[in-house]
Amino acid sequence: MPSGPVRVAIVGTGGIARVHAGALRPGAALVAAADVDAGRLAAFAVEQGVRATYRDLDEMLRDARPDLVHICTPPGAHCEQALRCLRAGVSVLVEKPPVISLREFDALAAAEGDAGPWLASVYQHRFGGAQRRLKGLAGDGALGRPLLAVCHTTWFREQAYFDVPWRGRWDSEGGGPTLGHGIHQMDMLLDVLGDWAEVRAIARRQARRTRTEDVSMAHVTFASGAVASVVNSVLSPREESYLRFDFEGASVEVTHLYGYGDEDWRITPAPGWEVPGAPGAGVPSGHRAQFAEVLACLAGGRRPPVPPAESRRTLSLVAAIYAAAFTGRPVTPPDLGPGSPFYERMDGGLAPW
Ligand SMILES: NC(=O)c1ccc[n+]([C@@H]2O[C@H](COP(=O)([O-])OP(=O)(O)OC[C@H]3O[C@@H](n4cnc5c(N)ncnc54)[C@H](O)[C@@H]3O)[C@@H](O)[C@H]2O)c1
Repeated sequence: MPSGPVRVAIVGTGGIARVHAGALRPGAALVAAADVDAGRLAAFAVEQGVRATYRDLDEMLRDARPDLVHICTPPGAHCEQALRCLRAGVSVLVEKPPVISLREFDALAAAEGDAGPWLASVYQHRFGGAQRRLKGLAGDGALGRPLLAVCHTTWFREQAYFDVPWRGRWDSEGGGPTLGHGIHQMDMLLDVLGDWAEVRAIARRQARRTRTEDVSMAHVTFASGAVASVVNSVLSPREESYLRFDFEGASVEVTHLYGYGDEDWRITPAPGWEVPGAPGAGVPSGHRAQFAEVLACLAGGRRPPVPPAESRRTLSLVAAIYAAAFTGRPVTPPDLGPGSPFYERMDGGLAPW
C-alpha cells in the first residue's frame, strides 16, 4: 500500500494519455512516462511536467518504481505491456479495449496476485452518478423487471481516421466500432443488466476502407430474460451515444456523445410507479470519476475498479457479436471458450471480406 500519493506512470503518450494526465490529480503523482516515439514522449513530458521519461517499459518499471501504470498505447500492445507490469509486481489500469482477444484477457487476469498487483480496465462511463444510481435502483428491484434495452453508438469517423497505422486492423486495433467505440455503451448496458445469454448479429463494411467492420447490429438476450438492440457504427453523421432501459416501472434513457452529466438522463415512470431518489448525484462520467475511485482503492490496499470478471464480460459480448456475425449463428457464452477461433481473435479469422 503506497504511503504517499499513488505513484503513477503512463505508457503511450498520445491523445488519451493527455486525458489521463489531466484527470489524475489529486491523490496521485505522475512520476514517469514511456513511449517508443521520442518526439511524442518529449512533447508530453514538457506539457505535463513529467521529469522521468523512458523509451523502454522495463527500464521505467525498474527505475521509476510506479505503484500503477496506465496503459495508453494502441490496443494490440496492451496485453504484453500489462503482463510485463504485473510480472514486475505493478498494478495496471488498461485503456479500452483492455486487450484484443479473450485469450489475451485470460492470460492477463491470471497474472494478478491475490492481494495485488491488480488488473483494472478503463470504462469511464460506469462512474457517472446517474449510471450509479440506475444500477442501484435496478439492483434493488425499485424499477421492476428489466424488459428491453437499446444501446446505440452511432458515431462518425472519416476515412482519414483510419490512416493512423494501428487503426482499422484486426491485429493492432483488434476490431472496428464494436470493439473500439461501442464498447463504452455496451459496458454501461452490462453494468446494469448483468450477464448476457445469447447474441445474434450482423457486421458489415459499408463505406470505409478498413480491414474491420464499420457497422454492426446485434440482438442480445440477457440471463434475466431482458432483450437489447445494439448498434455500433462509425458511419453516422449525426453522432450520438444512446442507451434506453425499459423496466416494468420506468423507461430510463441517456443521450450523450463522449460523456454524460445528470442533465443527459430522462426517467419516465410507468403509470402507477414512482422512481425513488433524486435524479442524479452531480458526478459526470469520465476518467476523472473513475480515477478517483481507482486511486482511493490503491491507497487503501483494495482492488481497483473495473475488476477482471466484469471487464471480461464486456469483452465477451464484443467477441459474441463478431462470432454471431461471422458464423451467421446465435452465440452463447460456452461457444467462446478456448478452442473457439473467436477466443483467439475477434474476427475468428472468418471475416467474409
Ligand atoms: N476511454 C476512452 O474514451 C478512449 C478514447 C480514445 C482512445 N482510447 C484508447 O486509448 C488507447 C490509445 O489511443 P490514442 O487515441 O491515445 O492513440 P494515439 O495513437 O494517439 O497514442 C498512442 C501512443 O502510444 C505510443 N506507442 C505505440 N506503441 C507503443 C509501444 N509498444 N510502447 C510504447 N508506446 C507506444 C505511440 O507512439 C503513441 O504516442 C487505445 O487503446 C484507445 O482505444 C480510449
